[in-house]
Amino acid sequence: MPSIAGSALLRLGASAIAATLVLGPLAAAAQERVNIYSYRQPELIKPVLDAFTEETGIETEVLFLDRGLEERIAAEGVNSPADVILTVDIARLAAVKDRGVTQAVDDETIAANIPAEYRDPEGEWFGLTRRARVVYASRERVEQDEMSYADLADPANEGRICIRSGQHDYNLALFAALIAHWGEEKTEEWMRGFKANLARRPDGNDRGQAQAIFAGECDLALGNTYYVGLMRNNESEPEQKDWEAAIKVIFPSIDGDGTHVNISGMALARHAPNRESALELMRFLSSERAQQIYAEQVYEYPVMAGVEPSETVKSFGELNADTLPLADIAQHRRAASEMVDRVGLDDGPGS
Ligand SMILES: [Fe+2]
Repeated sequence: MPSIAGSALLRLGASAIAATLVLGPLAAAAQERVNIYSYRQPELIKPVLDAFTEETGIETEVLFLDRGLEERIAAEGVNSPADVILTVDIARLAAVKDRGVTQAVDDETIAANIPAEYRDPEGEWFGLTRRARVVYASRERVEQDEMSYADLADPANEGRICIRSGQHDYNLALFAALIAHWGEEKTEEWMRGFKANLARRPDGNDRGQAQAIFAGECDLALGNTYYVGLMRNNESEPEQKDWEAAIKVIFPSIDGDGTHVNISGMALARHAPNRESALELMRFLSSERAQQIYAEQVYEYPVMAGVEPSETVKSFGELNADTLPLADIAQHRRAASEMVDRVGLDDGPGS
């Protein structure tokens, strides 16, 4: 791995090196910034980045990408301006590591802030927030308040369930978790029963499933917790408040082992030119203050023990999260994706 100093010198050239040496701290101060390559929507991370700049004086620059982030960093090579990578989903965190565009971070503060099950054992990525994949259930038509993922394949629920595509990252992570707990054979049997219970072909996004429950198309759906908060408090699209009011959250367990959670997270880019500032940002994002901002503004669960979720999220009930390490779950993602195809989940019921 080339040193940051080495790659910086290459870029600056001889005269600039002389200037840097003469200017010393001044030049260093002018460089206090962090470049962020993000799969997360800019508006979701702005509050926490603003707080970071306010606290440290370090500026941030965000490049938002909705695909190809790791390919881009790989193509940029040693000249990549990327310092910190922000993304949702364990699969994407695993992908940036596998692509070789991250570097290991061994930092006491970060390690103390983030529990081991939410970070890469080799320090190549770290979870920052958690979201639970729960059941959205019709308030009107579903009496029960408890349910397991296994119940979703019970023939008693025939014709009652809506989901987005089985190939979406959120569903693949859940199916991978089921494989990690149950093995492939049992999970495939479950998936066939689940498919038979669908009310329609998988379609739309998580919020669309709540809308379908509101419209009476189905009684049960799978969705992430934060969308419930985003719908409930949505002033710009108030019809979403009606969708949210039609559902209640049920935290399903995997045979009593808790609810599947996924994470959003961060990684240090392999050739981070502003390494020290990047580490400063990573420490900040793992801190109690940043965790609180995430909890309040985007309705996610903090990864740090002792930081409370928002009042909105607390109103869903108690989250008892599956404790199987996400790195273990991620290993089954490919098997989950192949299973979705084999079962024909996205073809809908009766196919
Ligand atoms: Fe999402």
